[in-house]
Amino acid sequence: MRTKIAGIGKYLPSRVVTNEELTHYMDTSNEWIIERTGIEERRYAERHTETPTTMAANAAKIAIERAGITAEDLDFIIFATLSPDYYFPGCGVLLQRELGITKTEIGALDIRNQCTGFVYGLSIADQFIKSGMYKNILLVGAEKHSMGLDYSDEGRQVTVIFGDGAGAVVLQPTDKEGQGVINTVLHSDGTHAEELAMINPGSHSGYHLGTEKFGYPNDDKDGGLFVTQKMVDDNMLVPNMTGQLVFKTAVVKFPEVIKEGLEKAGLKKEDIDMLVPHQANLRISQFVQKVMGLPDEKIVNNIQKYGNTTAASIPIALCEAWENGRIKDGDLVCLAAFGSGFTWGSALLHW
Ligand code: COA
Repeated sequence: MRTKIAGIGKYLPSRVVTNEELTHYMDTSNEWIIERTGIEERRYAERHTETPTTMAANAAKIAIERAGITAEDLDFIIFATLSPDYYFPGCGVLLQRELGITKTEIGALDIRNQCTGFVYGLSIADQFIKSGMYKNILLVGAEKHSMGLDYSDEGRQVTVIFGDGAGAVVLQPTDKEGQGVINTVLHSDGTHAEELAMINPGSHSGYHLGTEKFGYPNDDKDGGLFVTQKMVDDNMLVPNMTGQLVFKTAVVKFPEVIKEGLEKAGLKKEDIDMLVPHQANLRISQFVQKVMGLPDEKIVNNIQKYGNTTAASIPIALCEAWENGRIKDGDLVCLAAFGSGFTWGSALLHW
């Protein structure tokens, strides 16, 4: 028994934010952003009415319909995001409610693996399906970055990269020859955890980091709050990224983990029909394409339109490629991701 993608859907908010618009908020330029990242525009969610959960629900409804089931048929939800609606509870139960699922014979799991979230989620779902425990798993990646970015000059390196959106798949068992997930490969290395991270708000007090860059001792006068006025005043509630370290590590780990998956499956890079990399940066994907020796028609790049949507980027790119007829039944599809943690991984599947 293998795991197949029975239905797929995506949702992108309607508001298009061009590079030119960003130049109104910070010192940047269309040329710089395109040259360094390949991004031309991204989408931003409607600030008051759209959340990762509502966007995930929009994508999920399409995936559910395409799988030929109803939301009530789902027996498990896996939600990957780094920008959840609430600190807790996670988005899994919120999505259950948003989809109108009232039965309680269902589980909801939230995973926090950032850009690798979809690959990690697929690996988890694959184990549940292969063991026979579940038959209809909804896996979503959704992000609303636009509310957590630093729009001052200080944040420009990070802010220009990210966009909002959601992608979803319904996973089911299949015994059809030449269909389904072949393998998933997962890796992590916490050595550089703070180099691509949003440190605050958090339950640390700043002491262990040994630097004032990420936090201040949470003194008694702060009343034990994990958000202090000083953090707000000093603009510390924003993501942090050491861009060049991320870039240099990503261009090594992407090809490594793709080759590892291929080797384990006894396949060659020439066997890949479509590589769907996490849309981190067009330059990273182009580098990976070159190392893997793949022609343009065998790789999906849509970061130009949507920016980096973290956990949502792979299902959005996969969905778009399938909707455009670029992925057909039986094709060998390779998913690969690298991101905060650092975590990285790959998945090989026959469509
Ligand atoms: N607009 C204009 N200038 C900018 C800018 C922006 N948005 N962001 C940074 N700069 C400036 C810097 O201040 C620096 O100026 P200086 O030379 O006067 O000091 C210059 O551009 C070069 O900055 P640097 O950080 O060295 O650029 P870079 O070539 O490393 O590119 C990234 C920056 C972020 C595009 C690149 O490091 C990258 O893509 N890293 C990986 C990011 C990623 O994929 N993250 C997601 C992982 S899942």
